[in-house]
Amino acid sequence: MKFFIDTANLQEIQEAYDLGVLDGVTTNPSLMAKEGIKGKNNILKHYRSICDIVGDGDVSAEVIATDFEGMVREGEELADIHETIVVKVPMIRDGVKAIKYFSDKGIRTNCTLIFSSGQALLAAKAGASFVSPFVGRLDDISTDGIELISQISDIFTNYDFETEILAASIRHPMHIIKCAELGADVATCPLSVILSLLNHPLTDSGLKKFLSDYEKMKG
Ligand code: E4P
Repeated sequence: MKFFIDTANLQEIQEAYDLGVLDGVTTNPSLMAKEGIKGKNNILKHYRSICDIVGDGDVSAEVIATDFEGMVREGEELADIHETIVVKVPMIRDGVKAIKYFSDKGIRTNCTLIFSSGQALLAAKAGASFVSPFVGRLDDISTDGIELISQISDIFTNYDFETEILAASIRHPMHIIKCAELGADVATCPLSVILSLLNHPLTDSGLKKFLSDYEKMKG
């Protein structure tokens, strides 16, 4: 399972990279806005800085346009930043057309805002490199986000789609565990959620005991 970090914060991206388990980054307009980035040049510059941190890791950069021509224009510009850029396209009618266009041109895409298996199937048919089902946002409305991962996984297996399942909107460690059990290819999470995988009270108490016993061996 690949781990992507779901942020546009350079410090957090560096921290996750330094941990040695980072395979990529996902951003969205809300995450970019949170970093206070303003203006097209600064947005493109920021994506470049993210790419520089993660080396050969994938970096999802989202188009803002919602019409086919606009998405193509923006997506090509984003893809030009770095070969690791994956153009993030929303699951709308023109988005599906744009995914097909990018796929034919060899530009990788991440179809975002996936909330049903039918949407995932459509994106995979269009040639998306990744689909991003939003697990947490489904849970937020009393729907089973993990169940969606299971459905998409079954469908993609049935037809050998190469499209990777990128579990998004991950809110806590059990989301990661459940997605891993179901074979999701990627989980994109905030740094805090990745770090929460570390936690176990028996690890803490065990280490405390080892260290106090070591003290007794010192000359
Ligand atoms: C990632 O690609 C998504 O934009 C992100 O995971 C959404 O997460 P949220 O529901 O916590 O905003």
